[in-house]
Amino acid sequence: MAIQPRPQPLQAFLDAVKRGFDEASPREETKACLERVFDRLRHPVESSAPAPARVPATAFLEGAIGPAREAGGAVAELADRLRQLDPFLFWRARGGSEAEADLSGPDAIANAMVVGPNGVEDRKDVWVGLSLVPPGVRYPDHRHSPEEIYLFLTDGRFRHGESGWFTPGIGGSLYNEPNILHSMEAPPEGPLLAVWCLFDARQQ
Ligand SMILES: [Fe+2]
Repeated sequence: MAIQPRPQPLQAFLDAVKRGFDEASPREETKACLERVFDRLRHPVESSAPAPARVPATAFLEGAIGPAREAGGAVAELADRLRQLDPFLFWRARGGSEAEADLSGPDAIANAMVVGPNGVEDRKDVWVGLSLVPPGVRYPDHRHSPEEIYLFLTDGRFRHGESGWFTPGIGGSLYNEPNILHSMEAPPEGPLLAVWCLFDARQQ
């Protein structure tokens, strides 16, 4: 039985993610992970997507993609593709690093799974998702066994392992080795928006 092609907004977004990373002059380990991710994504998985949903922080999306659109090139195209995909996304809230986070409040982080468990394309071997962090909010430190790459559409700070805080910048990318502790923080004046891809080597 022939595999159905992906819905156009999803395929166009994934193509734009790939071009965004390629244009970011990724380091070797980022590029290698990117190839592993997109090698698997050559094969779509048929699934039914969850119903689209929004959370308070999605109000920051339009402002977050503005600078990327002005930057031009692949990151601007990615911003446009994200805008087209947004109506199909199931956004969920998660708390920032502050204790007792109010998940229904404006300081809760918005995450969306594009490809991956409970994503628009539901699968386990590759995850592609989005994090939209409200101004001044820090994403909690976390770690996971799949390796991960990030592509940033806004400014904002990141740290992993012993790196200390650094700013990848609009169109910047980075690589997280398996199980490395990592976190990010939106600047006080604006949201942080990033795309992340995880490759789970344990899944075939
Ligand atoms: Fe992560």
